[in-house]
Amino acid sequence: MRAIVHEKKSGLEGLNYREIEEPNMEDYQVKVSIKYVGLNRRDLAVTTRHDPKDGPLIIGSDASGVIQEVGTKVQKWNVGDEVIIHPGTGWDENSDAPPEGFQITGFPDHGTFSDYMVVNENDLSKKPKHLSLEEASVLALAGLTAYRALFTRGSLKAEDTVMLPGIGSGVLTFMLKYAKSVGSRVVVTSRHQHKLEQAKELGADIAIATESDWNEELKNENVDLLIESVGKATFNKSLGIIRKGGTIVTFGATTEDIVEIDIRKFFYGQFNLLGSTMGSNEELAEMISFIETHNIKPELDRTYDASNFQDAINYFKDSDQFGKIAIKM
Ligand SMILES: NC(=O)c1ccc[n+]([C@@H]2O[C@H](COP(=O)([O-])OP(=O)(O)OC[C@H]3O[C@@H](n4cnc5c(N)ncnc54)[C@H](OP(=O)(O)O)[C@@H]3O)[C@@H](O)[C@H]2O)c1
Repeated sequence: MRAIVHEKKSGLEGLNYREIEEPNMEDYQVKVSIKYVGLNRRDLAVTTRHDPKDGPLIIGSDASGVIQEVGTKVQKWNVGDEVIIHPGTGWDENSDAPPEGFQITGFPDHGTFSDYMVVNENDLSKKPKHLSLEEASVLALAGLTAYRALFTRGSLKAEDTVMLPGIGSGVLTFMLKYAKSVGSRVVVTSRHQHKLEQAKELGADIAIATESDWNEELKNENVDLLIESVGKATFNKSLGIIRKGGTIVTFGATTEDIVEIDIRKFFYGQFNLLGSTMGSNEELAEMISFIETHNIKPELDRTYDASNFQDAINYFKDSDQFGKIAIKM
């Protein structure tokens, strides 16, 4: 089979699309013929975390496909079922944080960017009926992260105003759709005018430039909840715009991780700062049911062929996209 593997050199230069041996299957496993995979920022990051000396690694956390073969002990699945691969394993029920042993698909074990993948029968979900295989391939990791950060951690309510800085993000485009589905008011920012316009088309109530003076632009708004994933470039602006007693949920740091904050301003403001990461299988099932109920589709910017995977990576690396990027295997 063919796969996108990381090997030989640290970083993106170590990625190759090449023939690799097919995985073996156990009795309790299923073999999925992967049709499309979804790109996540983590796929770029693992190329510096994976040591090429450990041998080739198939990268990737997201995929959709069709079951090709089922092991003799498999109860739940049949050949021909359309499925999505779970982006994480070892976190079944909702809890404050992932349990010991939780692992994100694609590092340190092989991931999804291959023609076939063998997984345990509980590490799959049925493809939502209203999505194509292409759309479903970009759903799980970002859609789940958005669901937990917005609802489980952020406790978003219909009467809230939520702010999403850097709306080009795959995860945040899900959040925009989720928040509008429950009737919340949504403020977004972007560095690009065309992304602000796209966000407005998806229902954003207010769309402002990331580099603008947020306090001036939003002087008539009360931001109850802000979802911060840009990191150093926006974190202090984010802290300065939420209402007293408001909440920031952070799940990413696309720019830098280390941020200096004014503690006194923070405690006088009675602010809440919460971390969030991915989600449990229980939340994944809730998220799928939520998007089916509200007929939500991922915001798919474009799809590349696996043979052009380098173009996909370059486009994504510079954050040019609005939403998600898929690769056809
Ligand atoms: N903890 C988790 O479970 C988890 C899960 C998924 C993702 N993440 C992390 O969360 C972050 C977002 O993920 P994603 O895949 O949705 O990201 P993404 O699609 O790459 O989007 C990141 C967005 O950040 C904005 N941005 C980038 N550089 C910026 C800068 N210098 N100044 C201001 N804004 C900037 C851009 O928005 P505009 O172009 O609109 O300005 C861009 O679209 C990443 O850091 C990712 O690693 C964490």
